[in-house]
Amino acid sequence: MSTIFRLDASIRQQGSVTRAVADTLQSAIAEELGSPAVVRRDLGLDPVDPAVWGAAAFAGFTPEEQRTPVQLDAQRTAAALADEVVAADVLIFAVPMYNFGVSQHFKTWYDVVATDPRLAVGQSQVTGKPAFLVTARGGGYGAGTPREGWDHATAWMRRILEDVWGLDLDVIETELTLAEVTPQMAELRDLAREQLAESHESARQSGRSVTIKLRSAA
Ligand SMILES: Cc1cc2nc3c(=O)[nH]c(=O)nc-3n(C[C@H](O)[C@H](O)[C@H](O)COP(=O)(O)O)c2cc1C
Repeated sequence: MSTIFRLDASIRQQGSVTRAVADTLQSAIAEELGSPAVVRRDLGLDPVDPAVWGAAAFAGFTPEEQRTPVQLDAQRTAAALADEVVAADVLIFAVPMYNFGVSQHFKTWYDVVATDPRLAVGQSQVTGKPAFLVTARGGGYGAGTPREGWDHATAWMRRILEDVWGLDLDVIETELTLAEVTPQMAELRDLAREQLAESHESARQSGRSVTIKLRSAA
């Protein structure tokens, strides 16, 4: 039986675009794969304690017999989180933009799992696995827009998922998600609705490609 690892980083449980698009994607993948097991890591509900990172990172520079109980505990946490990634056949990351950058919950989670040797730079044990990044931004960052160049989240996430871990990554992006609730963006609402519908359609299509991706990963 195949296993999907799904990570969510939205701090919203209700009305979240990344969660909704990832639901569409997950359903399409599940339809392709029969009844896969799904392992959820909800960082919006249950973020990783940032203190774990420092302890896990420095444990790696400390001889084993000298590691403190806090460092050993942090390493166990990192290994347990990394187990979920390494054991998966298909990975879904649903991560919004916050404050023009990457979600702090996702960054902390990554910093911690990257202390595990199986997910460290140059040692990835997940190379070639099918993976999907679902991201959403409240504003617009396309070429020619006033905030072109202000999206400091997506490129970093692509860098670590695609280049550091070597995942076979599809990215599904939705912009203008704040148009519905921001009066100054009222004229962008039709465009925002179109983009959202396109994202759900991309999610359905990407999900259907999972079998082909799994075959080429084998
Ligand atoms: C605290 C906070 C900060 C945000 N910062 C930005 C931002 O810098 N730029 C932007 O375009 N949208 C920003 N947004 C909007 C989110 O990116 C947008 O609402 C997105 O849809 C959130 O993902 P979700 O719908 O899955 O919850 C922010 C939202 C919150 C709650």
